[in-house]
Amino acid sequence: MTPSRLAAVAVAVDLLLPAWAAAQAASDAPGPVHAVPNMFAPVSVPADSIRELSFLVLGIAAGIFLVVAGVLLWCIWRYRQQPGDDREPPQVYGSNPIEWAWTIVPVLIVLVLFLATARTINEIEASEPPPGAVKATIVGHQWWWEIRYPELGVVTANELHVPLSPAGARRPTFLTLESADVIHSFWIPQLAGKTDVVPNRTNRMWMEPRETGTFLGQCAEYCGTQHAKMLLRVIVHEPADFDRWVAAQRAPAASDPSVAAGRAVFQETACINCHSLDGTVADGSFGPDLTHLMSRTTIGAGAAANTKENLRAWLENPDHFKPGVLMPAMKLDDAKLDQLTAFLMTLR
Ligand code: CUA
Repeated sequence: MTPSRLAAVAVAVDLLLPAWAAAQAASDAPGPVHAVPNMFAPVSVPADSIRELSFLVLGIAAGIFLVVAGVLLWCIWRYRQQPGDDREPPQVYGSNPIEWAWTIVPVLIVLVLFLATARTINEIEASEPPPGAVKATIVGHQWWWEIRYPELGVVTANELHVPLSPAGARRPTFLTLESADVIHSFWIPQLAGKTDVVPNRTNRMWMEPRETGTFLGQCAEYCGTQHAKMLLRVIVHEPADFDRWVAAQRAPAASDPSVAAGRAVFQETACINCHSLDGTVADGSFGPDLTHLMSRTTIGAGAAANTKENLRAWLENPDHFKPGVLMPAMKLDDAKLDQLTAFLMTLR
């Protein structure tokens, strides 16, 4: 993809969600790609109850709208001015029955909405992780997602891999949400509710998908210049495939002697201050872990597909895909850019 086409895609991503499908071309993930995040097509338990609740709220609101709009239209038509009738209509002041009616009815409606919402929140929050549950910690950064599986010893970024949860052998994923800087919000509409990611606070949520595939989401709380390109992918695997993915992520970083020059460029550049890379001196935590960089489908938290051309363009000038990104351009010459790209491309 040429830079100008990519820029066009980036603009489209900012404007509307379906363009997300474009950056998905490089994906080798299982199952379909659900390119349009849709809270009305849930495939996970918490998202199911959220849809039920939203239908109740929408139904009540639609009923109120129909009654109010209907009475309004009927009054406009029934009491329209008649030819030759210039009298002022009767003025009604302080009718107790009317005052009581329009106080009590809304209070009852709000009470029903409150109780239904509280019940749904409580049901979702009261769920305890079953024995087979996967646990992951998500840390929001400007503007990417750090993803850790403390019990599995895996660290990745922007693409959360989870297993399908079969009815007989439940394997939901429980998430701990933290922020490294400002408030973000973690939202995958088809899998779970939207939960804020708040500095100095730990929030929790969980998901229990019943379909494989890739589900798209995004940061849902304005968090600075590149909030729009703080995208998220959740890849739901068959349980055995998930275990294979974990094993591959736990493997040491590739060490290909043919890209020693690129490895040297990496180690002598400031990359190592912000990124971690297993088997090198790099142990920064400001940017994503690069140990298995090429196992991810996108770079820049969904800003571009993770291809060789895009990776090189990203290294040359990250602002090209993501203006304002906190990763600086390292001003490497063409030869070093080629070497560095070739090295990163080996990190499968
Ligand atoms: Cu992070 Cu918006």
